[in-house]
Amino acid sequence: MEVIVTRDYDEMSKTAARVVAQVLNLKPNAVLGLATGSTPLGLYRELIRMHREEGLDFSQVTTFNLDEYVGLPRTHPQSYYYFMQENLFKHINVPKQNIYVPSGTTSNYAAFCQWYEQRIRECGGIDLQVLGIGTDGHIAFNEPSSSLGSRTRIKTLARQTIEDNARFFGSPDEVPVYAITMGVGTILEARKIMLLASGRQKAPAVAAAIEGPVTSMITASALQLHRDAMCIIDREAASQLKMLDYYEWVQAKMPNAP
Ligand code: PGA
Repeated sequence: MEVIVTRDYDEMSKTAARVVAQVLNLKPNAVLGLATGSTPLGLYRELIRMHREEGLDFSQVTTFNLDEYVGLPRTHPQSYYYFMQENLFKHINVPKQNIYVPSGTTSNYAAFCQWYEQRIRECGGIDLQVLGIGTDGHIAFNEPSSSLGSRTRIKTLARQTIEDNARFFGSPDEVPVYAITMGVGTILEARKIMLLASGRQKAPAVAAAIEGPVTSMITASALQLHRDAMCIIDREAASQLKMLDYYEWVQAKMPNAP
């Protein structure tokens, strides 16, 4: 796994945006896998800036989001559809019909999950998947003990995740208990994966994901099995890595680093 340690959140976000721009330069009709949460907000701000000021073009791009809360309609301010609309989609030129976010209100979740997987395949697969990481080591809503071969399905959120996400709702009681999420197996099929993490509270999960054993107890550790996965993390999130010196040495020796 390639580990890129940045000074701070801002540098992490700009580095990640350069990776997205590189992918789009090579393939203007790339399929992007996108994440919600606090972590990618800086990346999305930078992409919006690059779109406005540098002409970064999304007109041929297709996007698939990782997950959505079950029970929240698209119009709910805490739904991930709404989040993506407000924080990215309405500010760039990605065509509306190319945007896929799992439905939190379908009447048939099993059929929807199958259809979602099928749409990803029909669109040619995901070229670049953006990920955050939970304090419990999850990617998307693949909570500890999720199968590393899992596909898009409904998951029950861990208590820790509900507590972590309560800051966006009035109280933990208002956080939905279920989510529809791409599986670890779905994520691992992306051609390139970019995990972002910022802040000291993510340091234990980051260390376990990068340097711990591959285990369903830290679903982000499955990225160790991927051929082209990179972690772009700030110094605080990197603070518990045993091999930090080595990653910084590798970075210093890589003239074309993003
Ligand atoms: P955060 O969430 O970016 O809001 O910290 C990350 C996650 O739970 O995957």
